[in-house]
Amino acid sequence: MVVVMKIATARDDFPTLRAGKGVYLDSACQSLRPDSVIEAITEYYTECPTCSGRSVHGMAAAVSVRIDETRETLAGFFGTDDPNCYVFTRNCTEGLNTVAYGLGLKRGDTVVTSDAEHNSNNIPWIMLAEASGVGRRMSVSGEDGEFDIESFKERMGRDVKLVSVQHCSNVTGCVTPVKAVAEIARDFGAKVLIDGSQAAPHLKVDLDGIDADFYSLSVHKMLGPSGMGILYGKEEELMRLRPLMFGGGAAGRTGYDTAELAPVPDRFEAGLQDYAGIFGTKAALDYLSAIGFDAIVAHERELMRLIFSELEDVPGLSVVGPSDPDRRCGIYSFNIDGLMSHDIAMILDNADAIMIRSGMHCAHPFFGSKGVAGSARASTYLYNNGSDIRRFASAVRKVAEQLGDH
Ligand SMILES: Cc1ncc(COP(=O)(O)O)c(C=O)c1O
Repeated sequence: MVVVMKIATARDDFPTLRAGKGVYLDSACQSLRPDSVIEAITEYYTECPTCSGRSVHGMAAAVSVRIDETRETLAGFFGTDDPNCYVFTRNCTEGLNTVAYGLGLKRGDTVVTSDAEHNSNNIPWIMLAEASGVGRRMSVSGEDGEFDIESFKERMGRDVKLVSVQHCSNVTGCVTPVKAVAEIARDFGAKVLIDGSQAAPHLKVDLDGIDADFYSLSVHKMLGPSGMGILYGKEEELMRLRPLMFGGGAAGRTGYDTAELAPVPDRFEAGLQDYAGIFGTKAALDYLSAIGFDAIVAHERELMRLIFSELEDVPGLSVVGPSDPDRRCGIYSFNIDGLMSHDIAMILDNADAIMIRSGMHCAHPFFGSKGVAGSARASTYLYNNGSDIRRFASAVRKVAEQLGDH
């Protein structure tokens, strides 16, 4: 049965919002969770708090069934055929590291990223370069922070074995043209890994259409439980990838000196898993599907337009990234002359219970290259409304007028 829900009443499903805990504009870090996700996590602990794939009793079987259903839901959600192409991880970072260390890259091979990547898609390559001599090149963002496809093309060559770029920036909210990136990478015989952490919560992601080899994402940014992520890989790529961890549940027959790996995806899920997290993941995907991405995208676009129009003439305020609200994906990063971003965030929280993020957002090289010390960042999601934005904008205006340099 297809459940359809209205975005206008979604706020009522979130206990944090019902409790009136303030204006939450930090969803790029972690989203809030609806009742159905919290109930699914509780269901695991109350109904079947056991493991999957080991014991044969009914409770354990119930967990296994839910895991299978969750992978099937993932395949439907992301537009692919095979549920076994989805690996449960702790977060997006684990998926990116799994690919970084599993591909067998060596001296002479090069990885191309962009200069606007999150630490999770930057540090693994620095470490790999240090440990194995793998080369690195970065495409350079345009003036307003957007991915520059021409700069990317210039970094490509036959030595490039992997391209790893974000689908959406956690600083500017700009979307990378990942389908075009994947096509170019393929022309050079390179594999493609996409960091979908900020895109998957806000856009309809069609993995078959993008045609990347790997796509890693954070479930905790898309209404799911904390500490859950997904690594998608094409079946043949997952078969070739060496897991990051080995052990129980990830092996076939073993001897004292030999071990057979389990089939994909189990070989990547060594040890007992976060089963409650998997139950919650399915509930989160079901919730997002019932609202629908057409509604989510349209709603977030309206919110972003409202932010821009409300803050247009605030003295001393500058925006990080493009000034066109339609080119941003739920993220508004800004600075106020004369104030540190942490001060802005603390004042908004203490004075008006408005929760935003501040600092460099794990994108230190990007800020360093622009000579900017960081930014305050408001990030929206489907449960925010116009009143949240107006409260935020009026608080920012007050801070700028009373404390900023202008
Ligand atoms: C663009 C981007 N990539 C990767 C990550 C890391 O995600 P996770 O904490 O799920 O590993 C984040 C988290 O904020 C992010 O914004």
